[in-house]
Amino acid sequence: MWMNRTSRSRRSILLLALASLLSLTLIVGLHPCQRKDVYYIANESRPSSIGNDTVFPHKVWQTWQGNKQLEDEPLRLARTWVEMNPGYGYELLTDDSARSYITKTFPYRADILQIWDRTLDYILRADLIRYLVLLGDGGLYTDMDTDCTRPISEWLSDEKAKAVDLVVGIEFDTRSDDVRADMDAAAQLCSWSIMAKPGSRHIQHVTDTVLARLQELGNTPAGIHAPSIDDVLRTTGPRVFTNALLSSMSKQIVVPITTRNLSYIEEPKVIGSVSILPISLFASGQEHSASKPWGNEQQLLSHHWSGFHTWKVDYDH
Ligand SMILES: *[C@@H]1O[C@H](CO)[C@@H](O)[C@H](O)[C@H]1NC(C)=O
Ligand SMILES: *[C@@H]1O[C@H](CO)[C@@H](O)[C@H](O)[C@H]1NC(C)=O
Ligand SMILES: *[C@@H]1O[C@H](CO)[C@@H](O)[C@H](O)[C@H]1NC(C)=O
Repeated sequence: MWMNRTSRSRRSILLLALASLLSLTLIVGLHPCQRKDVYYIANESRPSSIGNDTVFPHKVWQTWQGNKQLEDEPLRLARTWVEMNPGYGYELLTDDSARSYITKTFPYRADILQIWDRTLDYILRADLIRYLVLLGDGGLYTDMDTDCTRPISEWLSDEKAKAVDLVVGIEFDTRSDDVRADMDAAAQLCSWSIMAKPGSRHIQHVTDTVLARLQELGNTPAGIHAPSIDDVLRTTGPRVFTNALLSSMSKQIVVPITTRNLSYIEEPKVIGSVSILPISLFASGQEHSASKPWGNEQQLLSHHWSGFHTWKVDYDH
């Protein structure tokens, strides 16, 4: 169906994208973004362009870990990001190209590469690299089990895009103080799709936090390994992502922000320079948290929850 609507040039871009997806070895940018000198994490002496971007980079990032063969289904979903967002760059990082990205982007941060190399679990690496590309280049990071429902250019107004440097979505919301037993929180943000401007202070804080957690976990002689799902969630996953953001938003506006402030969000809500999207925009089709069924008018993307059927299962055995 998507082919019928595709112009010749878009089709050739698409073919290029598919070729790059299939090659699984290289970083391929269809419209490589101008790489700016924004790689200053934890380096105060470096000049920064923080806060000067008025738009989110037109770029979609995905990663495919473990150097295993890319299957048909993730490929089909990935194609929607290219197809529905003409004029956007697309880059798929594999385990190897993610490592090159780190060496090129953070040359003065040997500690990051060291942590990357010592990290044994691909799920931890997949989490870490998303924060690093968002920090270094910005754009939209989205998991391989998502597809695009609405073109990214329609996701927020120009005015809103100017005012914020991070866009996140609600993943679940118990709409009470009740903590979800499996997640140890009353509300949580999605870490499967995140849009950021390069050098966002919030992503910087998330990255610093995640690197510190990985280092804390790095107590086995063989390297950094998360013994349980719970360790993944609190070291690199949505739990640490949410908590780190609550803390950086609190710091930014100098009032405490808690999971209560993530509750009952019906319209996009801005806290500091973060736009927080209601649950149905990123996380439609769940039987809780007032998530609307798939196909609702608010939905920006579809999340297929493949992660729960693959990497989570690895930990259940
Ligand atoms: C910080 O950045 C400056 C300028 O690029 C560089 O000379 C210096 O080595 C960096 N410091 C650290 C600790 O990375
Ligand atoms: C960012 O904006 C500030 C204030 O408008 C300006 O002083 C600074 O030079 C800009 N930085 C860059 C890297 O453009
Ligand atoms: C955060 O939630 C508290 C109540 O839990 C409320 O008093 C406060 O105004 C909220 N702050 C923002 C920025 O929404």
